[in-house]
Amino acid sequence: MERELALEFVRVTEAAAIASGHLIGRGDKNGADQLAVDGMRSMLDTVHIRGTVVIGEGEMDEAPMLYIGEKVGAGDGDAVDIAVDPLEGTNLVAKGTAGAIAVMAVAPEGHLLHAPDMYMEKIVTGAAGVGIVHLDASIEENLRALAHATGRDVRELTVVMLDRERHEETIVRIRALGSRVKLISDGDVSPAVAACLPGSGVDMLIGSGGAPEGVIAAAAVKCLGGEMQARLIPEDDTQLERLHSMGVRDAQHILTVDDLVKGDDAVYVATGITGGDLLKGVQYGPGVCTTHSIVMRSLSGTVRYVTAQHRISAKS
Ligand code: FBP
Repeated sequence: MERELALEFVRVTEAAAIASGHLIGRGDKNGADQLAVDGMRSMLDTVHIRGTVVIGEGEMDEAPMLYIGEKVGAGDGDAVDIAVDPLEGTNLVAKGTAGAIAVMAVAPEGHLLHAPDMYMEKIVTGAAGVGIVHLDASIEENLRALAHATGRDVRELTVVMLDRERHEETIVRIRALGSRVKLISDGDVSPAVAACLPGSGVDMLIGSGGAPEGVIAAAAVKCLGGEMQARLIPEDDTQLERLHSMGVRDAQHILTVDDLVKGDDAVYVATGITGGDLLKGVQYGPGVCTTHSIVMRSLSGTVRYVTAQHRISAKS
């Protein structure tokens, strides 16, 4: 993909963040999501790509915009697969709590796993975890191995998990080992990215969350040289059939970063909506609004933080 595209995509997540940020703390998660979709969709068409949404707002009959299979972009340039989450963390925006982002991942056509909307078991660490952690190892084995690989004590490690009943046993075991657990109410893409960024204070993301979010996070993991293993969790026959139709015959199959995002050319871009550990949220001031984004490209490994001031009209 043309390298300039990475910076063009920042405009796209900025537009989604600025639009949905107007509904921060107003208890309207659907409204916030809709604004993010509208903002992202209109800006996408200014980018010189022949894009296909492979992960988006749902199937064509469920979502009027950014639906799976929708063609986006100006219609010239590289043919790319796009995975979007215009508002990752709808509840976070509705409640005005930390960690909501507008995010997308882009790779050449055919390179992103077309993950259906089901749960996915995930383990993510930074580069030190490559060849060290394993999705099927116990949490104790994984934390001890990561501590050893990074020359630290397990007590110094922090694991991020979604605060869900299904994770309770693992949370107890992590604490019993002495590591820290940071519980989040929503939004497991950002902590997956943080786990791969040295000095972020996050060493591992573990647990089950959305599969679409898993593919988006995998693009960042690829850019950062981190480790990610995942497994789709079909919950009924329809989801199992969906898996088979994707060519995944064995539901126990562990997906690697390369299964989730093929090849060596991927872009990850996110803009903060409500302030989080990695990115500040959208800040609206008189006449201007400030956004904070991160953009990375796997080919170069470059990670850029982009702070932008946008002129806004009194009405917006
Ligand atoms: P939204 O779709 O409401 O933005 O929620 C996103 C999310 O929190 C993901 O980050 C996470 O992977 C998934 O939902 C968790 O799903 P569940 O809330 O069903 O445990």
